[in-house]
Amino acid sequence: MRIVMIGSGYVGLVSGACLADFGHHITCVDKSAAKIDALEAGEVPIFEPGLDTIIAQNRSAGRLDFSKDLAAPVAAADVVFIAVGTPSRRGDGHADLSYVYAAAREIAASVEGFTVVVTKSTVPVGTGDELERIFREEFPDKDIEVVSNPEFLREGAAITDFKRPDRIVLGTEEPRAIEVMREVYRPLYLNEAPLYFCERRTSELIKYAANAFLAMKITFINEIADLCEQIGADVQKVAKGIGMDKRIGDKFLHAGPGYGGSCFPKDTLALVKTAQDHDSPMRLIETTVAINDNRKRAMGRKVIAACDGNVRGKKIAVLGLTFKPNTDDMRDAPSITIIQALLDGGATVHVYDPEGMDAARDMLGPVVYGSDPYEIAEGADALVLVTEWEEFRALDFKRLKTLVKTPVLVDLRNIYPIAEVTRHGFSYFAVGKKSKT
Ligand code: UDX
Repeated sequence: MRIVMIGSGYVGLVSGACLADFGHHITCVDKSAAKIDALEAGEVPIFEPGLDTIIAQNRSAGRLDFSKDLAAPVAAADVVFIAVGTPSRRGDGHADLSYVYAAAREIAASVEGFTVVVTKSTVPVGTGDELERIFREEFPDKDIEVVSNPEFLREGAAITDFKRPDRIVLGTEEPRAIEVMREVYRPLYLNEAPLYFCERRTSELIKYAANAFLAMKITFINEIADLCEQIGADVQKVAKGIGMDKRIGDKFLHAGPGYGGSCFPKDTLALVKTAQDHDSPMRLIETTVAINDNRKRAMGRKVIAACDGNVRGKKIAVLGLTFKPNTDDMRDAPSITIIQALLDGGATVHVYDPEGMDAARDMLGPVVYGSDPYEIAEGADALVLVTEWEEFRALDFKRLKTLVKTPVLVDLRNIYPIAEVTRHGFSYFAVGKKSKT
């Protein structure tokens, strides 16, 4: 099949490269000339494990190419995916669909023959209907069907998530579109990944409902963690104990500094707005959003409390900046708010992250960037683990003890065995369990 991916950002590139791996011919399009030039020069503009190899292999096999202009590839395409950004609109939190509609009109002007236009971007319920209306009214002689096909890719695990999905949600009831989409995902279908066909509006809502539910699950365990600290219970054991119940499941029950990233904050907010607009407020999600926002600042206060209630003039070393490991993405990362709280408290903040420091430079206040954990630990009054990168799991605490000024470790991801840390003389403050000083 010939497939065009409009938007070569995170979702577009991963989806395009993986679909090429399935044997389709893919053209990834982007308006940014710099991005396309970089991709054509063999550079991958985002950090996602395994993506560079898949892109290189499929390019040399002639199945994947890039273009700044969509007209020619769209004319030849069977399927056009829209994977452009849908950021939160400034001011009201609704999803900004201007890129989606602009892309749709350009696509419609170029299609030839029957073409399926698929929304891969996360779009509010009813966007597919609006696209259909635009195509019908403004391009009456074009033969286009609109399908919703939300992505459920986790950054850092996107290739596996694409190739071994729990399900593929496809919103269409139109027989010709169903047939085309079955063909697009045939390799997965053969792998027995379920293709779940439903109405387009239902499919659009599934994406928001899934992300909101997961955000709520994380927020639930974060509140349990706070309670654990007050009553002397251990949140990791509570999570394990409830997670063994199959109705609850053990995933997304890691207490931490609050969720961040490009999806959960944006999608929960958009769902809240949509629900309010339809006189059907989702109070659970409104509360989830508020709790998570407050939590990030509260984590800053937690660090300050670990430093005897005062960080003025103290040096704090922050390990990990990205919103989660294996990405260079800093969007809505808890580190931003935590570091601001520390700077507001008068601390000097030294930071290190394996991949996120370039992106962080535009987002953090006056902090000092170090080149490894040991460098930033020198003379520090506290070490704060914010993102659980693999390389932080095996820190040499014996060596760290000789470097720091005060041996205090605040572990906001609960990755260290308390005995290991305290054995080397550190005071240890975790999330949702007793601290040990
Ligand atoms: C998420 C969804 O998982 C994915 O299906 C969707 O398509 C896009 O949004 P992503 O944002 O890449 O993916 O990351 P995810 O692994 O879901 O983590 C989101 C945030 O929640 C991170 O800040 C992470 O640290 C936090 N988190 C996750 C927790 O605090 N605890 C958990 O148990 C799980």
